[in-house]
Amino acid sequence: MKKRELFTVIEHIPFSDQDFMLRLRPQQGDLEGVRPGQFVNLLVPKTAGVFLRRPISVCDVDMQHNVLSLYVKKVGKGTRALDQCLPGDSLDILFPLGNGFGTEGVRHALLLGGGAGIAPMVYLSKQLETMHIPYQVLLAGKTAASVQLRECFPQTPAIATDDGSLGEKGLITQHSLMQNLKSYDKVFCCGPTPMMKAVARMAEAASVPCEVSLENTMACGLGACLCCVTPTVAQGNVCVCTDGPVFDSRTLKNFR
Ligand SMILES: Cc1cc2nc3c(=O)[nH]c(=O)nc-3n(C[C@H](O)[C@H](O)[C@H](O)COP(=O)(O)OP(=O)(O)OC[C@H]3O[C@@H](n4cnc5c(N)ncnc54)[C@H](O)[C@@H]3O)c2cc1C
Ligand code: FES
Repeated sequence: MKKRELFTVIEHIPFSDQDFMLRLRPQQGDLEGVRPGQFVNLLVPKTAGVFLRRPISVCDVDMQHNVLSLYVKKVGKGTRALDQCLPGDSLDILFPLGNGFGTEGVRHALLLGGGAGIAPMVYLSKQLETMHIPYQVLLAGKTAASVQLRECFPQTPAIATDDGSLGEKGLITQHSLMQNLKSYDKVFCCGPTPMMKAVARMAEAASVPCEVSLENTMACGLGACLCCVTPTVAQGNVCVCTDGPVFDSRTLKNFR
């Protein structure tokens, strides 16, 4: 069930001048039922020119200590304002939003993350560990410095970088793991749209179902404002915030 709650910032961890992590604890309830692939919608602390909430993926949930981790790339006023949050500050958060990844029946998964899209793969990998489902993680970025969160995964991820500064040199689609897609029965992907489209095409050619997590611009996060719609093959326009953000790539018109 969706909730609106105040969270206390437990930790602010700066990674670089471009990104950081927030660890937060709900002031009242717990995080029970929050699934990998879901997101939260944060009310940014008072900032001129920022009125709408900002959607951020669930990066990790520590149920035992009741702590939610969010990984944020600073791209504009809202994310820069969130970077100013200090331990003890309160944040107004709507959660959990969206559908999350479909792990039922999966026997061998490939998790692909690029940029801020690496974040939701952390919690997904932990869920697969708990479910004893074998999986491989492949992360990609332009340079080693842009492939963050590597140490947050339970197993060492494979890496592709454009400049070869870490892992294999080249795009994620050129990585050796991608040449053997048929050995997986599900691909999960989150990252820049061109990356997700290229991955989805390869998965489809190999007849492997591929779930992509869209990061369309959002406002309400609740299916009310329609600013996040995406066209589908069979159901017309759907809201990414409520029908997604995770979709089977074959259902998306823009991925055909
Ligand atoms: C479901 C979902 C999950 C997300 N998860 C994460 C996450 O885990 N970590 C993270 O860092 N970001 C994530 N994003 C993107 C994040 O919401 C935006 O970067 C943020 O809202 C930008 O706010 P801003 O005020 O800083 O920038 P703005 O001033 O609003 O925009 C600055 C620049 O960022 C671009 N931008 C705005 N929104 C998006 C977007 N949704 N995707 C790509 N570019 C955008 C704008 O076009 C503009 O160029 C997610 C988005 C969605 C929809
Ligand atoms: S963000 Fe308002 S309908 Fe999706």
